[in-house]
Amino acid sequence: MKDFTYHCPTEVIFGLDAELKTAEAAVRHGGSRLLVVYGGGSAVKSGLLDRLCRSFQEAGLVFRLLGGVRPNPRLGFVREGIETAVDMEADMVIGVGGGSVIDTAKAIAHGAANPGCDLWDFWLLKTPLTKSLPVGAVVTIPAAGSEMSDSAVITNEETCEKRGLSSQLNRPAFAVLNPALASTLPAYQVACGVTDTLMHTLDRYFTSVTGNDLTDEIAEGLMRTVIRNGGRAVKNPADYDAMSEIMWSAAVSHNGLTGLGGAKDFACHQLGHAVSALYDKAHGATLSALWESWSRYVLPINPDRFRRYAKNVWGVEGAEAGIGATVSFFREIGMPCCFSQLGIGVLPDEALNRLADTCTYGKTRTIGNFMVLDYDDIRRIYASANR
Ligand code: NZQ
Ligand code: ZN
Repeated sequence: MKDFTYHCPTEVIFGLDAELKTAEAAVRHGGSRLLVVYGGGSAVKSGLLDRLCRSFQEAGLVFRLLGGVRPNPRLGFVREGIETAVDMEADMVIGVGGGSVIDTAKAIAHGAANPGCDLWDFWLLKTPLTKSLPVGAVVTIPAAGSEMSDSAVITNEETCEKRGLSSQLNRPAFAVLNPALASTLPAYQVACGVTDTLMHTLDRYFTSVTGNDLTDEIAEGLMRTVIRNGGRAVKNPADYDAMSEIMWSAAVSHNGLTGLGGAKDFACHQLGHAVSALYDKAHGATLSALWESWSRYVLPINPDRFRRYAKNVWGVEGAEAGIGATVSFFREIGMPCCFSQLGIGVLPDEALNRLADTCTYGKTRTIGNFMVLDYDDIRRIYASANR
């Protein structure tokens, strides 16, 4: 094993009716004045929000509701949330939803704890984040893994940038995971979540650092679990057994465990974030639309790694067969594998330049670790997905 430091302090409450334990978890982690953040209405429609409000009331907690987070959550909304949190003197922010809601909750927590700072400066790494409020997550879609991750991804709608901020302060204090809450999801969202879950480990597995045997075995086991159960969860989101495997996989896939000892690659994620920033597409769908193009581009760097992936994850021989099996899986669960399937058409040259520019923050950075990609590499990968 290579050296690592790992501290993932999130308390996980998993299982049927787990949401009924949210109030006691909030109290345990020091919450008494809660700002409860949710999305466009699924948590209202399912009755989840009502159940949570009742339990907060019964526990004597002060709380305020803030709905309306959109997928690819916006900085403007976060700023409004910070005002509310400061106004009510919130001491905890609870996100009820998926990655977009939980990331919004994290960002509000950072802003409320640092009222004198401009929030976006934390994402631009101009100001170091040194304190925040505790966050709780009630997960309704297994996907982003934000419920245990050290990351929060926000879109600045004024500058068309979508950026992640990594910090230990992004790890929620507790996460409530009831797989039955995901039973109301549309099939497409389940498929996006399955893809994102697979990709959080894939984007760690393909790293330049080798020799972390246990990490590789854990990663391969997680990917096999996602592949075995993903199709079932997409076909029937009310299949509790399949959804529970996917929900736990989503949390573990992005809590750091499947990449310990190695540097994260995350090139596909960075490629996808630029597409979401400019075209507002679902995160998981941007990843499947780009993965094949990325994998064929970087394959010559380490074909052995791709052969191991093919054999241990898919049970097939040869790098090409592993890539093919992955692409077939995406197709089977209804995910796009190129730009036209993603619904952004075949882009003109200028649009590909703009994507590459957005992804490299105006040619100021490279991405990736398995293979370090510069502007020209990135432009070629976008061109290859542009069909
Ligand atoms: O807004 P509502 O009405 O709740 O509808 C949502 C939304 O339209 C719906 N949904 C969620 N649970 C539902 C449901 N509909 C019916 N029944 C339910 N039980 O699903 C839609 C998508 O929600 P969203 O939160 O956007 O999905 P996801 O969890 O995939 O999050 C995506 C966001 O997370 C970021 C992505 O970039 C994207 O912005 N990520 C965050 C990460 C992190 N913080 O660690 C890591 C990821 O790589 C990712 O970048
Ligand atoms: Zn992701």
